[in-house]
This record gives sequence, structure tokens and C-alpha cells, in this order.
Amino acid sequence: MPQPTIESILHEERLFHPVAEFSQQAQIKSLEQYQQLYNKAKADPQAFWAELADTELHWFQKWDTVLDWQPPFAKWFVNGTINISYNCLDRHLTTWRRNKAALIWEGEPGDSRTLTYAQLHREVCQFANGLKQLGVEKGDRVGIYMPMIPEAAIAMLACARIGAVHSVVFGGFSAEALRDRLVDVQAKLVVTADGGWRKDAIVPLKEQVDKALANNSAPNVEKVLVVRRTEQPIDMERDRDHWWHDLQAGVSADCPAEPMDSEDMLFVLYTSGSTGKPKGVVHTTGGYNLYTHITTKWIFDLQDTDVYWCTADVGWITGHSYIVYGPLSNGATSVMYEGAPRASNPGCFWDVIEKYGVNIFYTAPTAIRAFIKMGEHLPNARNLDSLRLLGTVGEPINPEAWMWYHRIIGKERCPIVDTWWQTETGGIMITPLPGAVPTKPGSATLPFPGILADIVDLEGNSVPANEGGYLAVRHPWPGMMRTVYGDRDRFRRTYWEHIPPKDGQYLYFAGDGARQDEDGYFWVMGRVDDVINVAGHRLGTMEIESALVSHPSVAEAAVVGKPDDLKGEDIVAFVTLENNINASDELKNELKKHVVQEIGAIARPGEIKFADALPKTRSGKIMRRLLRSLAAGEEISGDTSTLEDRSVLEKLREG
Ligand code: WT7
Repeated sequence: MPQPTIESILHEERLFHPVAEFSQQAQIKSLEQYQQLYNKAKADPQAFWAELADTELHWFQKWDTVLDWQPPFAKWFVNGTINISYNCLDRHLTTWRRNKAALIWEGEPGDSRTLTYAQLHREVCQFANGLKQLGVEKGDRVGIYMPMIPEAAIAMLACARIGAVHSVVFGGFSAEALRDRLVDVQAKLVVTADGGWRKDAIVPLKEQVDKALANNSAPNVEKVLVVRRTEQPIDMERDRDHWWHDLQAGVSADCPAEPMDSEDMLFVLYTSGSTGKPKGVVHTTGGYNLYTHITTKWIFDLQDTDVYWCTADVGWITGHSYIVYGPLSNGATSVMYEGAPRASNPGCFWDVIEKYGVNIFYTAPTAIRAFIKMGEHLPNARNLDSLRLLGTVGEPINPEAWMWYHRIIGKERCPIVDTWWQTETGGIMITPLPGAVPTKPGSATLPFPGILADIVDLEGNSVPANEGGYLAVRHPWPGMMRTVYGDRDRFRRTYWEHIPPKDGQYLYFAGDGARQDEDGYFWVMGRVDDVINVAGHRLGTMEIESALVSHPSVAEAAVVGKPDDLKGEDIVAFVTLENNINASDELKNELKKHVVQEIGAIARPGEIKFADALPKTRSGKIMRRLLRSLAAGEEISGDTSTLEDRSVLEKLREG
């Protein structure tokens, strides 16, 4: 891992207190109340989580041990049995929530659908029986490659109901990326749709699945279940492919939720790391259910009449935790939107808020920056009075974007929760509780109760206030990932050994640089490893480099991030070509296309630079720090004495 110099450039003075009307009705009403919870949890984390698990969730059978911690492997609520689909559905059916809207869905072409808890329960039970009919059993893995339609959530909940492990693959990933994930997770069945709508066009999902499975390249996949959405013609392979509506016609709606061991695997979600192929992040049942439940309740301050909207895609962890499981476990009304701001309707997000009277709105800084660019006349032309709370996630939010969100969308009335977390953490870790914690634009503020976050040096020592260091967590928490699918060693190496354990004390290493200010507020600066954050999506430089090198014209490639106004970071690829190949603009375009083919459109390099050679150390390591400076158009500073061939640098600078 490179040892970066972490410097903090932000010095934000503004402080925004929650308005009294908000705090009075909030779940957590004051800074004192937050501090009490925090201190209580810190003094006895196990008692804190056990009490919440007891009061907030339904268990078929209570646990006998709260936490079994054999670092770095944690087990929460040992021997407890629980089902997250039961907690998200069944337990609401005996209350007034039975006929409350669980999901409000809006399709991009303007079609819409509302499912009450009773209706959603019925659909999930049927889908679960459909999966069983196709041979899916407890413990089997199911791939989900879907557009943002209710069936995506239904499929997830149906898997959880029968104890199958879902692995959702973002619909924007290519057939190749899909195949890699399906093979790694050994999926037995894939749930997909004919297509989905995105930016006025159809994403041909089933066609991608066909490509991913062609030539028996994912032999583990026996069945494909297809939901009809866009209705364009697709190929259906006999015996392998089944239409959901055909199956549904004969399937019973009676499907009791399977009591699962608290530590049974709930899902695997792939995320990029600094080295090698994407990691299958494993989350289990009981701890994840509790953590997403309580973070949703306190951070989004859920009230029973709220309409809550998180704009993420279910293909990412944000969609898992804060569209599906967290909100539904709380009996909330969760909005699901298929579309994205697009030429034909750049104001579509504000339309959705007005149409459904959205009260809580959770989106990403990259989206906010895009809204700023599109102009405030769009939100100003809609009635956004229903909004009472705003949130952001995915990357650090620049204070100007925060202020715009606060003024133009929140009308200086809505608190903003800037939530720091990761696929690995399962749920939000550092965030204001909106009725309690005063906010500073650009800071995720304070840890959630029970989260012992710290800024440390590479020896694991806490660093003084306002000094940069590595963001780490000192105690396990229920929502934490349990392992990397099929690779316990990689789990240990990646998250627990960068900072060597001392006296049996293990620290979770998040991979982010950050500082804490004099008030204890956290300021996250970004990744310290070779991970690029493009529009809130995490991409490993290695993955993109491998994709480039798999092209016959490419000899070597090095990929770095470059600051970008809209996307946060953009991808710049330095490429050396095979001997007989000539550099050209056509080749640049071809290489960009090739990366899209291999990974997906989110990984398309913004810029490709051809070079004769790449700057390397004498031991052959590419000096990315230099490439990052070059890509950003900065002067090369710092030590270059380890560079093997200094002329390489001169040439790159000239080129
Ligand atoms: C990385 C995790 C968790 C859902 C979205 C991304 C960055 C995330 C913030 C924030 C500063 C943030 C970090 C983190 N990040 N939220 N509020 N402030 N940085 O999940 O793909 O697992 O990426 O996103 O760098 O490590 P992910």
C-alpha cells in the first residue's frame, strides 16, 4: 500500500444547528441524548446491541451469546434464529401497517405501482415458491441482475425468506463482469428482466445474461428467471429460461419464512479493492438486520407517516440497506425510482418528490453537483415543501454543494445527514443524528452510537486532533462484513493487517484518509489505496488496468484518478502499446469501448494517454503518485529518487 501524505485542506467554520421544531419530534432529540447513547454503547457495546436486538426485531429463538469475537471473525447473536424477510414483512401484517404503502415505485416512462405491506408480502411469498419450484434451496446462491423495478426487491426478499443467498449485480455492469461474479459466487439461478429503462433507452439485461452464460462459461447457472418489463423481443432458451409471469400463474402465496441462524449468509455483494478481482463482501442475517434497522430509524428519523426516498440502485449496498432492508424492517414507505435525470426530463427527481410528497431524500454528492449544473430553476419550479430531511452518501461532499443542497432543496430548514460508510460496513457508521448533532458542511460529523471510530497512524496509535491519518474502527459492530466470499485470508489481509494488531487488539482498516477536528468531527478525505471513486462508484485501478491489458494492442497500463467537477474523480489511463502498434485517436476510442465491454460504462476512462514507458521504481512498481500529478496537470513534487529512469518522466511531461 502506498504511504500517502494526508493533508487536510478543508477548514470549515460554519455550524448549523437542527431547528427546534425538528428536534422536538425527532427520534433522538438532543446532543445530550446522542452523547448518552454513545457513552452507554461505548461502556458496554454488547449490552447496547443486545437491548436493541431484543426490542427492535422479531426472533424465532433468542441468541445465547451476543458476540463471539475471534479476530478478525465476528459472530453476532450466536444461536439466535431470525428471518429478515419476516422482520420486513410478516410482523407488520398484524398491525395497522398491513395496508400501508411499503414500496412506491415510479418507472422511467411514467408508469407507477404501489405495493402495500400485505401485497408485497404476497408477491414475495409467491416469488419464493417460484424459486423453490426451480430448485433453489436454502444456502444456494441466486444472482439478481435487474432494473429498478419492484421485482428486484421482491427477489431479494424472496431469497431471504427461503434462506437462499442473493448476489445482486448492478444492471450497468457488462456481461463479462456479470459472468465473473456469477462464477465466483457459484450462482445456481439468475433473476433478470427482458430489459430496464435508463435515460430514455432500454438496457438489454436478458441479452447480457445470455452473453454471460454463452459457451457454458458459467456452468453453475442452471436456470434463468425473467421478469417482463420492457417487452422487447428476447431469446428464451428451452429448459433454462422461464418467464416469471408464467411461473406465478400456478404458484401458491403461502410460504412461511424459514428460521435462519443469525450468522447464516444473507447476501454477497461484490466491490472493488486495490488489488485483484472484485471481492465478494459477505453479510449475514441477524447483525445486518439489526444494524440497518436501527441506523435507518435514527439517522433518517423515520416517522410513521413519512415517505422516504433513497435514489440509489439496488445493485449497490446503499440500495440493499437503505431502499430495501432498513426501511422495510421499520415498516416505512420506501420510494423506488427506475429512472435517472435525463435529457427528456432533467427535473424528474423533483417531480417524484412533488408527486409523492417525499419527506426524506437521500442521494449522492455527484448527483447534487449535476443538479447544480442543470440549474436551480428546475427544483424551484416544483413544490418541495414536503421535504424535512436530506442525506448524502458515496464520497466527500464539497461545502459549496452542501450549501446549495441546504439552500435550494432544503430551503434552510431541512437538516442534512452526510453519511460515511462502505459496502463492508453494512450500514452507516459516521453521520449526524439529524435532531441532535449540529452539522458542518463537508463533515460526516460523529460516529453512530456503538461505533468506535478513530483516526490512527500505521501503528494503530490515535493521532491528535486536526492531524490526518487512517480511518479505523476499534470494536466490531453487528453490520460488519463477515468475510470475503471464499477467501478468509484476503479478508484478514485487506482489512485487519495493514495496521498490525497489538496485544490482540484488532482495528478495522477502512482504506480512507481522514482527520478529526477539535470538536471530534470526522472529515473524510478519500481513499488512500488504489481505488478510484467515480460518481460515488468504487473502482479498483487494477480492474481497469487488467481490462486494458486484455486488449491485444496494449502492452502495459496504469490507471489513476483525476479530480473532476461533476464525478468527483475521473479515470485517466496511461497506456504503452505493443511494438508494432501505432497510437491514434481511433485506438483511444477502441480502448475506451473495450473497458466498457469488460466492466461496464461506469469504468469508461475519461482520458487515455499513450506513453513510451511508465514511471517505475527500481523494483518495478509503477509510481502512481507521479501519474496522478501528471493527470491533474500539477507540478511533480516530492521524492523522485526511486525512479528507475528519469527520462520517462520528462517524456510523459512533454507528451
Ligand atoms: C467508500 C465506500 C456506502 C455506500 C456508498 C459507497 C466513500 C462513502 C462517504 C461520505 C466521504 C464517503 C469512502 C468509502 N464514501 N460515503 N459520506 N464522505 N466519503 O460504498 O462503494 O463501498 O464505497 O466511499 O471513500 O470508503 P462503497
